[in-house]
Amino acid sequence: MLIDSHAHLMFPQFSGDLDELLVRARAAGVGQIVNVGTNLETSRAAIAMAETHDTVFASAGFHPADSEKADASSLKKLPDLLARRRVVAVGETGLDFYRNYAPREMQERAFRVHIRLACEMGMPLIIHSRAAETRVLDILEAEGGSKVGGAMHCFGGNAAEARRAVDLNFHLGFGGIVTFKNSHALKVALGVPVERLILETDCPFLAPVPKRGKRNEPAYVRYVAECLARAGRGKFDSVCRQTTQNAQTLFGLPS
Ligand code: NI
Repeated sequence: MLIDSHAHLMFPQFSGDLDELLVRARAAGVGQIVNVGTNLETSRAAIAMAETHDTVFASAGFHPADSEKADASSLKKLPDLLARRRVVAVGETGLDFYRNYAPREMQERAFRVHIRLACEMGMPLIIHSRAAETRVLDILEAEGGSKVGGAMHCFGGNAAEARRAVDLNFHLGFGGIVTFKNSHALKVALGVPVERLILETDCPFLAPVPKRGKRNEPAYVRYVAECLARAGRGKFDSVCRQTTQNAQTLFGLPS
């Protein structure tokens, strides 16, 4: 079995064929999916989907792109969502200095609130970090994020940053990017300790080869596992078994 630890099934790209998509996921061996919220609206939609589909779980939080929506009154609504059945993580949250969707101070303020909330509620974090790894890790360290740990999703940092994330009790998530030609992320993924590696799609974005450029979906996490196995991460079956066990432990999913 495989787990897609980072999907956005409530995005409009999936409104036409969600049921077929879940059938294809099962057929590809993808037995559990973490459906990741990006603001209040999408978090509510992610939870609703998890409550009606037994292979789907949810998270709730504000993506750094949505940090402008993460004002004090919106953030106050998060604990109720996080307490819902089937919600397994806080996020996605983090920092994006590549696109600079919102002023850095605004992103950082929202990120810190998410970390504190995760610690209060004893839930793992799902972290988006782009061109901001050092700052993300500094803030996680300062706020005591290692108490709950979580997933550094679609990890794009170097080997030293990966080690620091592992030392801070984080798992590293890898998706379609490892299948791209001359992938730096693939080299980093091959060095991650076996008990800290998890797989994801980040669908509808970043489809792996041979679906690159198309809409991504949970079934394609299989291509990521195959790529890692081919690159020397171990036999395909053991990549599946280990990453599944890691994601289940991290998010408290039924095994
Ligand atoms: Ni995402």
